[in-house]
Amino acid sequence: MKRMKKSIVKLEQVTKIYEGKVMHRALNRLDFEADQGEFIAIMGPSGSGKTTLLNIISTIDMPTYGRVIIDGIEPEALNSNELALFRRHNFGFVFQDINLLSSLTLEENIVLPLTLDGLPIAEMKKRVEQLAKQLSLKDILNRRPDELSGGQAQRTAVGRALIHKPKLILADEPTGNLDSNSAKEVLELLSVVNQTERTTIIMVTHDPIAASYCDRVLFIKDGEFFNEIYKDERRQTFFQRILNVLSLLGGNVHDLRML
Ligand SMILES: Nc1ncnc2c1ncn2[C@@H]1O[C@H](COP(=O)(O)OP(=O)(O)O)[C@@H](O)[C@H]1O
Ligand SMILES: [Mg+2]
Repeated sequence: MKRMKKSIVKLEQVTKIYEGKVMHRALNRLDFEADQGEFIAIMGPSGSGKTTLLNIISTIDMPTYGRVIIDGIEPEALNSNELALFRRHNFGFVFQDINLLSSLTLEENIVLPLTLDGLPIAEMKKRVEQLAKQLSLKDILNRRPDELSGGQAQRTAVGRALIHKPKLILADEPTGNLDSNSAKEVLELLSVVNQTERTTIIMVTHDPIAASYCDRVLFIKDGEFFNEIYKDERRQTFFQRILNVLSLLGGNVHDLRML
């Protein structure tokens, strides 16, 4: 069956220039499109503009030139209140630094974004229970962050990013601080969410293994499009193709963490 494609992110000729003592062009005339349900990795050497790209997609930053359309909306046309609400309703964020609130339990951390929306307690409970099952955190919801493994903590952060059912998950090096087993847990979780909920995921990563979980990898270099590859059947061959492009890309390939 042919699936209808729906564009959820569209960047047209996006340029980002940071003004400062030295002007820096972090992105240069970049085109990028993500369809609903895609799981995309963004790779490139340090300083190539990956975080800048993610910040522009997430509307945290605006481009200097070019156009951004998220789910049919141009964020630039929204005022700051509208933008904050738009962000809160549409996006879930996962970062390298996990940033759970240490005085709250896992359950309280996960539910935090919903309390902002004033949802009924019963509805919140229901959603946490569903998610906790999916995240394999059911039995430890009353623990606090300092009683968790790295993988459990990051899975909790993924839970917090998912609790309000966002259309788009934006992740910046979500496995960057995790050991290989914990990284695998988080990546498998993201894959399941992507497949079952059709949540679009855009993930910046240095790690070719992490990228091999995605459907597509976009490589950027010096703020420009470098290459793009799609997954075929097997993750192992995709992984090999990712390594091939990374070796063409040069830069910091030597400091890749080989998991
Ligand atoms: N706020 C800023 N002001 C000035 N320069 C910046 C700022 N943020 C990033 N840069 C520069 O823009 C380039 C791209 O940065 P970034 O998007 O963080 O790259 P990456 O995430 O790929 O490492 C780098 O050269 C960085 O030094
Ligand atoms: Mg970065």
